[in-house]
Amino acid sequence: MDRTRTYAIAGCGMMGREHMRNIALVPDARLIAIADTDAGSRDAASALASALGQSPAFFTDIAGMLGTVRPDAVIVAAPNYQHFDIANLLMQHGVAILLEKPFCTTVDDAVTLARQMRDYDPLVWVGLEYRYMPPVARFIERVQSGETGAVKMFYIREHRFPFLEKVGDWNRFNRNTGGTLVEKCCHFFDLMRYSLQDEPVRIFASGGQDVNHLDEQYNGETPDILDNAFVTVDFSHGGRAVLDLCMFAEGAEQQEEIYAVGPIGRLDVTIPAATVKWSPRDGSGMTIEAVETPTDALQAGDHHGATFFQLQAFHHALVDGTPPALTALDGLRSVQMGAAAQQSIATGLPVHLDFSQTGEKLA
Ligand SMILES: NC(=O)c1ccc[n+]([C@@H]2O[C@H](COP(=O)([O-])OP(=O)(O)OC[C@H]3O[C@@H](n4cnc5c(N)ncnc54)[C@H](O)[C@@H]3O)[C@@H](O)[C@H]2O)c1
Repeated sequence: MDRTRTYAIAGCGMMGREHMRNIALVPDARLIAIADTDAGSRDAASALASALGQSPAFFTDIAGMLGTVRPDAVIVAAPNYQHFDIANLLMQHGVAILLEKPFCTTVDDAVTLARQMRDYDPLVWVGLEYRYMPPVARFIERVQSGETGAVKMFYIREHRFPFLEKVGDWNRFNRNTGGTLVEKCCHFFDLMRYSLQDEPVRIFASGGQDVNHLDEQYNGETPDILDNAFVTVDFSHGGRAVLDLCMFAEGAEQQEEIYAVGPIGRLDVTIPAATVKWSPRDGSGMTIEAVETPTDALQAGDHHGATFFQLQAFHHALVDGTPPALTALDGLRSVQMGAAAQQSIATGLPVHLDFSQTGEKLA
């Protein structure tokens, strides 16, 4: 069976070009077209394509691209605030979609899009790829196998560098990104749900914009994005999780530290150290498992190989007609949790969530 599938990319900025490098690593994935509104991004992507041995056709807009070529799948790596409209445009063309996170910037749009995608037959996959970082995948596998016993405490720390500069500086304002806890922390809320195999019932958060971007101005406006937060999440089966985010901590040795603790012991994983540690309570001592990621996957992006392994899984689903591992519902839930955390910070109050019925509203 011919496993070749053709791809287009909508938006070839930083992340679109990471996808180009990873398409080059996936056997039978062929990049045939790229649409981007910005000449500088198209030029950078054209130079990268030459270096990778790809020869995509370039377009200045997505509608023009889809009027000319017919890719099997389109990877959407345009700014967050365009995801809803671009996904709707793509669905009119019947292509498979790999939609970068966040699914949408608002809960209302995310609910609407998730409903629309329920009735859409081609593969739709939301790019919450942290699940695919090999050390994180191994950690989650061990958590889900029950090694710790039922997880009571789950913790994610991301201490990193500030938001990077983007084409048109779109990431400086909540209205464009959905807010920091939607924009980037959707990854972490997804990891919590997936690791615990459970849904949240309450979120309480404290956060602020205390250090970053305060001296920047865009058309007379100062950025309004959070740069640090603590978020606590209660899950329906009694587990509780914490997100500890700091975006002025690039000096930290480990960018991400995650642990899960249950009655039998504690598992933790750190990135980039890529070790999974098991610390049992029975006194038998800690064991450390080093998790390797292939060098080419590590070098093809900034996400510890996750973009490659996600794309490989997407490609298999596309060829084999199997369901997505990361669904529109996962996208919706990660936006709902991020929006609830943003709301909690704004009001100073906890936000109750009820996903037991339709799960479409924040209480
Ligand atoms: N999964 C991850 O870990 C991860 C990491 C980084 C970025 N992202 C996501 O990828 C997306 C792009 O982020 P980025 O960092 O590459 O930003 P970027 O600003 O570097 O690139 C965005 C590109 O989209 C182009 N664009 C804007 N409107 C367009 C349109 N209507 N049609 C086609 N192209 C258009 C811009 O010209 C630009 O080249 C965002 O949604 C971001 O949240 C995901």
